[in-house]
Amino acid sequence: MADARDVVGRKRDGQPLTEDEIRSVVLGYAREEVPDYLASAFLMAAFIRGLDTDETVALTRAMVDSGATLPLDGVSRPKVDKHSTGGVADGVTLVFAPLAASLGMAVAKLSGRGLGHTGGTLDKLEAIPGFRTELSPQELERQVEEVGCAVAAQTKDLVPADGALYALRDATATVPSVPLIAASVMSKKLAVGTDLILLDVKAGSGAFMKTPEEADALAAACVDLARGWGRSARAAVTDMSQPLGESVGNALDIVEAVEVLRGGRPGRLADLTLEFAAAAQVALLKTDPTDARRRAEEALSSGEALESFRRMVEAQGGDPSVVDDPVAVLPAAPVAVPLDADRTGYLAEVDAEAVGRTAVALGAGRRRKGDPIDPSVGIVLRAKVGDRLEEGKPIGEIHARDEKFAAAASAAVNAALTVTDSRPERPPLVYRWRDA
Ligand code: URA
Repeated sequence: MADARDVVGRKRDGQPLTEDEIRSVVLGYAREEVPDYLASAFLMAAFIRGLDTDETVALTRAMVDSGATLPLDGVSRPKVDKHSTGGVADGVTLVFAPLAASLGMAVAKLSGRGLGHTGGTLDKLEAIPGFRTELSPQELERQVEEVGCAVAAQTKDLVPADGALYALRDATATVPSVPLIAASVMSKKLAVGTDLILLDVKAGSGAFMKTPEEADALAAACVDLARGWGRSARAAVTDMSQPLGESVGNALDIVEAVEVLRGGRPGRLADLTLEFAAAAQVALLKTDPTDARRRAEEALSSGEALESFRRMVEAQGGDPSVVDDPVAVLPAAPVAVPLDADRTGYLAEVDAEAVGRTAVALGAGRRRKGDPIDPSVGIVLRAKVGDRLEEGKPIGEIHARDEKFAAAASAAVNAALTVTDSRPERPPLVYRWRDA
């Protein structure tokens, strides 16, 4: 075993590390033999100096080897996993999992909690009274076989080195690094036995990668890792220059997801989810691309996807009537006020990260790992880039604990909007796809 201090020194000086050296730091840290300060120094050296392809492969392999794997051998349908690198109003998983299940595929999704300005699927689902996200591997597998989908918390045994290193990266400003994110994302995907990995690599103000070029480099790194493992993966570089959907919160996201699952809320969230559902069918069911999109739309409009969501909620202990009347079932904030535009003109840019941070300040997210969240509060922002705003006219709603919080959030959201006199171009939804 290499000495962790020597490994940090070599990376600091820009020398390439061997697989053994990387394993000694990663596995040593997961076993609590390497202290936080050395692991932090390693992360910062790797962040600044970068990791080449061999080093990224070694880091990924070490993370996978740090724990158990979930082969999902007992699931008979074609299995697809979908992962987003994190964004604002990103409810794709909530819609995609039941939609894919209703189309004959299986989704065993291990999700995370919101951290920083980004929301977390587990926090959203836990807004449903009774919903349980802690499933044993056996429960998860059984549910996926019976219902077609399950969304659960990542277990402690699965890729524990990523859990430990991700928390440390969050605390040491070492998150937005292509090799570190690629290894983190892909170690979790490679540890689960699926037939297809779909990656949603976000680019823009609400994402870790601020430009499509940076996001594309991350997509390429992830797809290269999948290829090296002999696994099938498709990565889309998608727009996060504004919140994807309209709701930034937890209960509010569930309301929006149920409306999309009913086929009653067209827009960017529905479109992107349909794009992923189509890609999964083409790859796994060999569906013709034009039929794939149509089949996915029909699964929404016929209510079949919503029915899969109901079965998933019920299987995980949640109140299934959330699909019939989400507003009646989900917790409501004490104050709900219109969010009015404070200027007239065209919406040209949204600082989506600032919108996410405003939702955190309302109580919808956590400032530190383990903080409690308030599932009822959040922001609904209906305006999208290219829309016309009128001063004093509503562009959404603020759901808050009291009037003071609501007023502060209204001002903060308006401050996050750039409004111009001329109509700007609407950004594309998907910049490009990459395949392995
Ligand atoms: N999502 C992950 O799983 N890991 C990262 O490093 C960033 C986003």
